[in-house]
Amino acid sequence: MEIIKTIADMKQFAAAHRGEGIGFVPTMGALHEGHLSLIQRSVKENAVTVVSVFVNPTQFCPGEDYEAYPRTLDADAALAADAGAAAVFAPSAQEMYPESYDTYVETGGITDALCGKSRPGHFRGVTTVLTKLFHLVQPQRAYFGQKDAQQLLVVQKMVRELNFDLEIIGCPIVREADGLAKSSRNQYLSADERQRAVVLSRSLNWAQAQMDAGVTAAAQLIDGMRTMIAAEGGDVEYIEYVSRETLRPLDTVQPCSMFALAVRFGTTRLIDNLFVD
Ligand code: PAF
Repeated sequence: MEIIKTIADMKQFAAAHRGEGIGFVPTMGALHEGHLSLIQRSVKENAVTVVSVFVNPTQFCPGEDYEAYPRTLDADAALAADAGAAAVFAPSAQEMYPESYDTYVETGGITDALCGKSRPGHFRGVTTVLTKLFHLVQPQRAYFGQKDAQQLLVVQKMVRELNFDLEIIGCPIVREADGLAKSSRNQYLSADERQRAVVLSRSLNWAQAQMDAGVTAAAQLIDGMRTMIAAEGGDVEYIEYVSRETLRPLDTVQPCSMFALAVRFGTTRLIDNLFVD
């Protein structure tokens, strides 16, 4: 497996393999089983799989964990190779954003909802870096986890509206045995916080069981989830029930919607969601 560090080398690799069909898994590294499931799926569906490992500075807001974000390129490259990737693209921040860099790509509308409220500029950073990565890697398909549901919808919208010639594929959330959604940020949790954080998936499972039993009032479900999460000391940033097209809140349970939440345990901010169809 190749480790590619420069834009020039990435372009050369893409030009050589584009005709075979490239599958792409963009990541910020600290790979876990969630990422590996995306890589494995890409390996199955494409002749060549490229994984990017790049902690993208433009998607971190002031005061967030850009400096502290885990950087484990050697381990990531070994995992990507084991999973069957043909190349890891790991550019430096300087390579991607040279001095006087000034061009951004912004998707409107759905970026104001959910995480967009507390992370201004975050999605602009995501869509900017993905635009650059899509141009460099030239994939036919790109794979994203459903845990970052808003990101998935934003990327799908950008690709549709800017006529990118690639397919965006959303893949199911991978969870720990006790239900906690896999995330590179789980490693920030203390042992006690880690145990309490299980309440996120527990509250979503509870909402699913209530819907199965016929409850349709979103407010009732959100209140129940809020109570469960507060009982475990989680600091709720939002719990919302929204359309998966507009991300606008909905009052009653209906198809193509989701429960989405962001909750802090200590200083660690976790997100999770449940698709309703
Ligand atoms: O989901 C992530 O890890 C990042 O937002 C992504 C898609 C790699 C862009 O930096």
